[in-house]
Amino acid sequence: LFASVELAPRDPILGLNEQFNADPNPAKVNLGVGVYYDENGKLPLLKCVAAAEHQMLEAPKARGYLPIDGIAAYDKAVQGLVFGDAATASGRIATVQGLGGTGGLKVGADFLKRLNPNAQVLISDPSWENHRALFTNAGFTVGTYPYYDAAQRGIAIDGLLGALNTAAAGTIVVLHACCHNPTGYDLSAAQWEQVIAAVKARGLVPFLDMAYQGFGQGIAEDGAVVQQFLASGLDFFVSTSFSKSFSLYGERVGALSVVCASKEEASRVLSQLKIVIRTNYSNPPTHGASVVATVLTTPALRAQWEQELAGMRQRIKAMRVALVEKLQAAGVKGDLSYITTQQGMFSYSGLNAAQMQRLRSEFGIYGVDSGRICVAALNQHNLDAVAKAIAAVI
Ligand code: LMR
Repeated sequence: LFASVELAPRDPILGLNEQFNADPNPAKVNLGVGVYYDENGKLPLLKCVAAAEHQMLEAPKARGYLPIDGIAAYDKAVQGLVFGDAATASGRIATVQGLGGTGGLKVGADFLKRLNPNAQVLISDPSWENHRALFTNAGFTVGTYPYYDAAQRGIAIDGLLGALNTAAAGTIVVLHACCHNPTGYDLSAAQWEQVIAAVKARGLVPFLDMAYQGFGQGIAEDGAVVQQFLASGLDFFVSTSFSKSFSLYGERVGALSVVCASKEEASRVLSQLKIVIRTNYSNPPTHGASVVATVLTTPALRAQWEQELAGMRQRIKAMRVALVEKLQAAGVKGDLSYITTQQGMFSYSGLNAAQMQRLRSEFGIYGVDSGRICVAALNQHNLDAVAKAIAAVI
């Protein structure tokens, strides 16, 4: 039966974890996957999460099946966080609990495939490696729109708008709401207005992926683009994730929200999303979403979360500054200001695949072949070694 099954390549990001774990080098550093580690290189358990879990333990509950669309209080809290109270009250947003941000994308992709099977999908060039694979596996043809201008180290805004302005009506455009993965370059509010105008003029379907809210400038600042889309009157999709912002990676806690024209339309869309979920994994798990809902709806825990998230954001920014200093000390010449201009967890280093592979094989430093390194995994103990290794392969 399986004689013809081919060995698949490792996942370009999660496959690095497998390689990293198998590497006996005691000095190895994992800058591959987008995960925040604290200054001691440890995955943090946020205090707000521990407090919510403590509360939950004091009043333990049996675990029945959740509704297909998840915990109602969680879905409502997600809407409040992502869209604000006024938009939530309108009733025109359908939100379902998702298995992380990836799960939200997948439910959206499957729903869109039923709705418009011939639509094309456009992702940014470059994009998160899994965007292409996920939409391809959902049955779509996936193309790209220009995004990164390597020569200018910034956004290829003319190319991006040009691609949108020539896309066929109904084309699904996957956009990174903040902390672009992998480049770290985000559109300004004015550029988002241009994108929204093009999307509107051409009748495109915007799908925002917001996996890093709070890691750029702040929760509201990073989510501002959602308000711009709301104000445009467009229908749009938003997948959100609490993997990073709550350090709950293994709980797979995220959501998909679909902004519709009316409350009545939203209830029809929700009914279809529920079919997608029921026929994929039936209904979502309880723990992670209960934790997030507890934190978001308990004022003291919510304040604590915002403070802890700000702490992660500030430490990443400090690591960007420190990386520039260490690279300069290691002899790297030229303008390194791009490292502090980029935001979110990643720096798009400009190193090529061969250089990234040398970093792994010679120095035990793991980054993605695209040149992406996770700044959120740097700390005072590994910075020197990382900077020297980068200097050596340049
Ligand atoms: C990443 O880009 O590293 C993260 O989003 C983790 C993942 O699932 O790839």
